[in-house]
Amino acid sequence: MPVTQEEFRAALSRFPSGVTVVTTKDAEGRLHGITVSAFNSVSLDPSLVLICIDRSTGSHAAISESGIFVVNILSSEQAELSERFAAMIPNKFDGVEHSLNEHGLPVLSNCIANLECRVRNIGDGGDHTIFVGEVENVSVNEGDPLVYFRSNYRVIGA
Ligand SMILES: Cc1cc2nc3c(=O)[nH]c(=O)nc-3n(C[C@H](O)[C@H](O)[C@H](O)COP(=O)(O)O)c2cc1C
Repeated sequence: MPVTQEEFRAALSRFPSGVTVVTTKDAEGRLHGITVSAFNSVSLDPSLVLICIDRSTGSHAAISESGIFVVNILSSEQAELSERFAAMIPNKFDGVEHSLNEHGLPVLSNCIANLECRVRNIGDGGDHTIFVGEVENVSVNEGDPLVYFRSNYRVIGA
């Protein structure tokens, strides 16, 4: 018998993850950003990572259109950004410090890492899509990560 959604969620919530904001733009050049914990490394050579994006989100359509995205790994001081980019609000980038990369994608400031990616493969992930991206550019900063565990933000203790 398959597990219930409640059981499934309860089990998954016990897997701690970092938190990222994935940014991109759509065919009209409008900027999109989405909070994503389903991020992982895939391959060292070539440099590949994956993100899983809900098919119903605006960001899903935008990544499918542009074929490029940036993974911004949040620091322990950026829980507010995680909430902002998980909310259904217009103008998500208003007041959010960022620069634009050579493709016009937002690179969020003060993150512990930013990975600029180009979609290499697209996989079926049920109600999500698995985007495998080749990393074309990275920047890294000092700082502690923001951690998500059992529906709450945590910070790694010393
Ligand atoms: C901590 C956290 C992690 C999340 N991880 C994901 C994820 O991995 N993939 C995803 O599609 N949505 C994830 N979400 C939900 C999206 O951020 C949310 O649906 C967002 O509103 C979509 O924005 P958009 O429709 O403007 O693209 C997460 C939300 C939170 C708070």
